[in-house]
Amino acid sequence: MTSSTHSGRVALVTGANKGVGHAIARQLAELGMTVWLGARDQQRGTQATGELRDLGLDVRFAHLDVTDEGSVALAAKYITQESGRLDALVNNAGVSRGWAAPSQTPLEDLEATFATNVFGYVTVTNTMLPLLRRSDAARIVNISSVIGSLTVAAENHDPTGCFPDGQFPVILSHSMSKAAVNSLTVMYANELRGEGILVNAVSPNWVPTDANGNTGILTLDQGAHLPVRMATLPDSGPTGTFTVATADGLGMALPW
Ligand SMILES: NC(=O)c1ccc[n+]([C@@H]2O[C@H](COP(=O)([O-])OP(=O)(O)OC[C@H]3O[C@@H](n4cnc5c(N)ncnc54)[C@H](OP(=O)(O)O)[C@@H]3O)[C@@H](O)[C@H]2O)c1
Repeated sequence: MTSSTHSGRVALVTGANKGVGHAIARQLAELGMTVWLGARDQQRGTQATGELRDLGLDVRFAHLDVTDEGSVALAAKYITQESGRLDALVNNAGVSRGWAAPSQTPLEDLEATFATNVFGYVTVTNTMLPLLRRSDAARIVNISSVIGSLTVAAENHDPTGCFPDGQFPVILSHSMSKAAVNSLTVMYANELRGEGILVNAVSPNWVPTDANGNTGILTLDQGAHLPVRMATLPDSGPTGTFTVATADGLGMALPW
């Protein structure tokens, strides 16, 4: 199962103790990478890391809460000591608190969602950049969602087929946070393209996790496939794109 293609390369996946992040961490490790499994809870992180190590994978626990700059800095220090660099960062840790319409959304739901889904991505990216800059082929993948697409929302037509025409979800906090993820993806892609660091936003599509009551139209493995591909792009790969995982594994471009 384990390939040597990417052996020696090092990745960090945030929020990887379960769900999409866990599947991405496992698939990256199956490619032969050393994977730092980021989790905010010591016990959940240690357990998830142990389960993947039991499969013979080189997975190590990085204790980090993306909303806590100190814990992210400590994790970076530890990864620096142990691995010396990062070749891939997958910003995945996310919350979906307050699935409410705009007129029903308390400001604190917006603040809590942005703290993790947006400011957390920025904190981890900025803190890990010195490690990524030590790589000869660094990749950053920002896990986004079709609900962050302004075009899809405005047209009320979802090309992924998750939501019927005219019934695109109206969720202020989550949708705004993912639109911001798309925005920051383009900003970082433009800043870092001169250094050869490729930055892309990817949706796993709709996959069964605790965040959505374990419903979905793709399996977790299918949803993780495209983020993994984007985390291991060749130098000729794209940057500043927004794509969604598809059942055939090819992925599809999404409008911003
Ligand atoms: N599931 C889908 O269909 C779907 C669709 C589109 C996009 N996504 C995106 O995929 C990503 C993962 O979501 P999921 O569906 O896998 O949800 P999930 O099963 O609820 O997993 C979320 C992960 O993020 C972690 N997390 C939350 N806040 C954190 C923080 N402050 N610091 C560090 N880790 C934190 C959670 O840790 P704890 O276990 O400690 O809570 C958990 O490991 C999110 O960005 C989500 O928006 C999912």
